[in-house]
Amino acid sequence: MRILNLVFHPNLNDSHVNKTWKSQLEESGKITTSRDMYAEYPDFQIDVEKEQKLLLRHDRIIFQFPIYWWSMPPLLKQWLDDVLQYQFAYGSKGDKLKDKDMQIICSAGGQAKNYNGFHMFATVPEVLKPFQLTANLAQMNYAQPLYMFNADACPDDEIRLFGNKWVESIDDPRRGDGLKYVNQRIHEELIAVYPQLGMA
Ligand SMILES: Cc1cc2nc3c(=O)[nH]c(=O)nc-3n(C[C@H](O)[C@H](O)[C@H](O)COP(=O)(O)O)c2cc1C
Repeated sequence: MRILNLVFHPNLNDSHVNKTWKSQLEESGKITTSRDMYAEYPDFQIDVEKEQKLLLRHDRIIFQFPIYWWSMPPLLKQWLDDVLQYQFAYGSKGDKLKDKDMQIICSAGGQAKNYNGFHMFATVPEVLKPFQLTANLAQMNYAQPLYMFNADACPDDEIRLFGNKWVESIDDPRRGDGLKYVNQRIHEELIAVYPQLGMA
């Protein structure tokens, strides 16, 4: 399996968590191509053709980043807007990413209790929902996201323990189709109840 790790951190040199994980993934020998995207595009002028060619040459695409304002760093949003073009990622002929895996690896500064999903809180998978919807549109398999809380206060050895877990699962062929299976099943169950709801 050819794995592409795209790391989006506005200042990777000052990063504690994502710099460590990027190195651990590279040292594992499991990553085919690993890139520091802010170093590559400091002016946000993304080379779309180069990015699309790289996507075509890999089976699993990792987006690795810190959560900023319950969302992604701005260069990642720019990259999605520019690279996932009509008739490349979606549209009648836009099936170039079909059956590739999308894997999110992210760090959250907030504590787990701030991501409990109740009342005014959201879970990390809820925060990452736009990625799941994007994967669905591009006919990609959305793997269960990998993430850690309390990122700014986390001791080095704990960061590395999480990194070891990511290294273990990163080339697991089942990770790529976990949510696709769940989505398909839920989709079929929903359709099955439409007549009872008077929607068929
Ligand atoms: C501009 C900015 C916005 C942030 N927004 C959030 C946020 O919405 N939720 C959260 O849990 N952490 C937030 N954080 C904390 C980062 O997620 C945390 O610093 C990062 O994951 C640590 O990873 P690093 O050591 O690789 O930088 C924010 C940090 C910055 C600088």
